[in-house]
Amino acid sequence: MMAYRGSLVVIAAILITVAAVSLYNEENEKEQYKDDLLEDNDLEEYSSRKGKILFPFLSIVRFANTECSTTGTMRGTCLARRECHNLNGTITGNCASRRGRCCVVTRGCGSTTNVNNTYFTSPGYPSAYAGGAACSITVYRCNSNICQLRIDFLDMVLAQPDGDGNCATDSVTVTGGNTVVPTICGDNTGQTIFVDFNGNAAITITITATASTTFARRWNMKLVQLGCDCPGIAPNGCLQYYTGTSGTINSFNYGSAANTVLSSSLVTGTRQMANLNYGICIRMEAGYCGIQYSQSANDVYSFTISGDVEGADNTVLGTSLGASNDGACSTDYVIIPNPTVTATGVAVGADRFCGIGFVSVQTTAKPFVIYVVTNGDEGATATSPPDIGNRGFSLAYSEIAC
Ligand SMILES: *[C@@H]1O[C@H](CO)[C@@H](O)[C@H](O)[C@H]1NC(C)=O
Ligand SMILES: *[C@@H]1O[C@H](CO)[C@@H](O)[C@H](O)[C@H]1NC(C)=O
Repeated sequence: MMAYRGSLVVIAAILITVAAVSLYNEENEKEQYKDDLLEDNDLEEYSSRKGKILFPFLSIVRFANTECSTTGTMRGTCLARRECHNLNGTITGNCASRRGRCCVVTRGCGSTTNVNNTYFTSPGYPSAYAGGAACSITVYRCNSNICQLRIDFLDMVLAQPDGDGNCATDSVTVTGGNTVVPTICGDNTGQTIFVDFNGNAAITITITATASTTFARRWNMKLVQLGCDCPGIAPNGCLQYYTGTSGTINSFNYGSAANTVLSSSLVTGTRQMANLNYGICIRMEAGYCGIQYSQSANDVYSFTISGDVEGADNTVLGTSLGASNDGACSTDYVIIPNPTVTATGVAVGADRFCGIGFVSVQTTAKPFVIYVVTNGDEGATATSPPDIGNRGFSLAYSEIAC
């Protein structure tokens, strides 16, 4: 009798334990799904799987798929966890008061994307990529109200051009859009370009990289899709677009160090790209009517567009003596519409600037835009003047109050 009662107690204890464990598991499962439901409002899916409404007390709450900031440098989009998994995204934290997950979408060679803020990185990024193959990404609009793709070169180190300014070893090309994008290479970290979508057509970004392990080639581009009514959209056709009342505008691959690749006539090569023809727009901020441009201070190379940098000493390089304009500028130049000399207010009477120095100018011609033109030869064999060691330009701009 005692033994019988004892085993009843044992059996009862086991039953209670089993019930408690299964109750505990179900609670855990409920919590897990509650989390999912809160995230992605997927009530129907779970209910039909379970055959009943488990959480009638939950209201369906939508959160905006806005940009979210995480601990790293990469920014993501606030999505439901499942949406992020479906995109092969990486969850880096919570967002929307913990209802969403901050999802960073990164794509590599041969990929496609229609996700806003996709990062396009080189193989093995941030380690150096040895190259050897073309690498491209095709970007589809995320919805029919997208007009423009903004490409932020967060980190962009490709091979320098050859000494005559041609992207012979590495290059980045952008095709399929409605904006003509020049072929560029070299160091372009921090540059941003704006490419208009051509209707529903995809935009393809292609990097060709000749096999080489002699430098740390790598890239990380952020691909931002801008709605037609987005305040950050660049005016139609502007390859680059600056906002704010002051800033610095660098030409592609600008740097004060010389290109170590020699030109075809075996003199110092150029950093300046050949065959450029594009416009840079600057937003006229409220209360500002004019704009001033100066070459960047403390950098004698900051306006070296045409001519012989190596043969000039510092009494000429980066000074008014090195500056040229108008008819002297026929191969490579920057155009600034209708300028006056800042120091004197006297009309320049010319709008093409070149040479190896720059005198500060102002203009009230609107919209604020400068054009960049180079011909097909940035080397010493170029017809007069020969181009030797040009770096391009780094111009500081400052808007002038009305
Ligand atoms: C996610 O990765 C899988 C496996 O590599 C692949 O089949 C699928 O197409 C990827 N999905 C997206 C949206 O890239
Ligand atoms: C894409 O994200 C950016 C922020 O990085 C935002 O300004 C833009 O409006 C977003 N585009 C769409 C279509 O939501």
